[in-house]
Amino acid sequence: MTTALSSRVARFPFPFATDSYRYSTNVEPARRPVTTAAGGWGAGVLDVDDDYAAELAERRAVLAADPTRCQELPHMRVASWDALTTLLPELADTLPGTTSLDRVGDRWTWRNDRLGTARTFTVGDDDSLPEGPLAFLGSQIQDDVVLLDQREGALWADAGLVTFAADWSMGFDVGMRFLEVHGPVPRVHEAGVVQRAEQFLMRLQPGEEYRRTNWTMTVDRRLDTSTETYADWGRDRRLVVDDPALPDRLHLRVEVQHLIRLGVSNAVCFLVRTHVLSLRELATVPEWRQRFAAVLAELPDDMADYKGLTRFRGAAVDWLTSR
Ligand code: HEM
Repeated sequence: MTTALSSRVARFPFPFATDSYRYSTNVEPARRPVTTAAGGWGAGVLDVDDDYAAELAERRAVLAADPTRCQELPHMRVASWDALTTLLPELADTLPGTTSLDRVGDRWTWRNDRLGTARTFTVGDDDSLPEGPLAFLGSQIQDDVVLLDQREGALWADAGLVTFAADWSMGFDVGMRFLEVHGPVPRVHEAGVVQRAEQFLMRLQPGEEYRRTNWTMTVDRRLDTSTETYADWGRDRRLVVDDPALPDRLHLRVEVQHLIRLGVSNAVCFLVRTHVLSLRELATVPEWRQRFAAVLAELPDDMADYKGLTRFRGAAVDWLTSR
């Protein structure tokens, strides 16, 4: 195993605590380190790994091809500044040797040697950051970002920069209520999961940070599985079944999602950091191999369908259990 590969396994946020998986309002306080069978994750809000520069280059390319991945309703500009000024200091703490943030009043100078970025801007002054604070933030962190406004007793997904969506679309969802955004998800409405989640999020106090995980599967290390590019990746779900490279091409895709109440705008900042690990990598940890095979085999059909696993889940279970 190469170093990059073993570090990927060691840091992977394997999400299953038991042999079966159902939706729940699974939130916990952020920044609590988690130990896994291979290593651990979760000590910070931002997680910068060996794929940092490559993933940000991929985001730039996706945005250049399709600027609609970045959305911001006009009243959300203050929330975008709020997100940037909350998360840049966080990134500086995460990368102490290779980034620096100097603040003189509202005049901020940010240097990021990992990316070769050096920018000076004035907080709140749109002319000083022409691409906008949300786009700039998205050029520095691997996470996708959604900003939710709270009004009329509900949360509204009124801004976001999302290039790595797992089969949904920021351009489609912008301006929707939290409950509407979750419209396509099976089971959660009857079970009250989304309603409880929204109530929980609306009670978050300024500065409070929580997190949860979500998972699906992806063919290849492809992060851009937005609805917009379905024609590029959808058929691979069928074609991969007969591909001898199936264990290298099929990946468990885990999102570590953070939920943070921003202090100035009162918006809820939703961060989605996507990790992918091939079945072959995953199988290097025997506990993960057995557990993921069990979860996949037991998953109800409606959930497997929604997650887009139906075509290949039998082949994945066969490979995981035949080893
Ligand atoms: C999907 C729950 C927060 C946006 C889902 C799914 C669940 C869920 C169970 C289905 C995932 C799957 O099977 O792959 C929750 C809970 C939350 C939360 C419990 C908070 C505690 C958020 C927030 C946003 C969001 C803040 C921001 C708008 C989405 C989107 C999808 C999704 C866009 C995909 C829906 C589609 O298929 O179009 N969520 N979620 N979620 N969630 Fe959340």
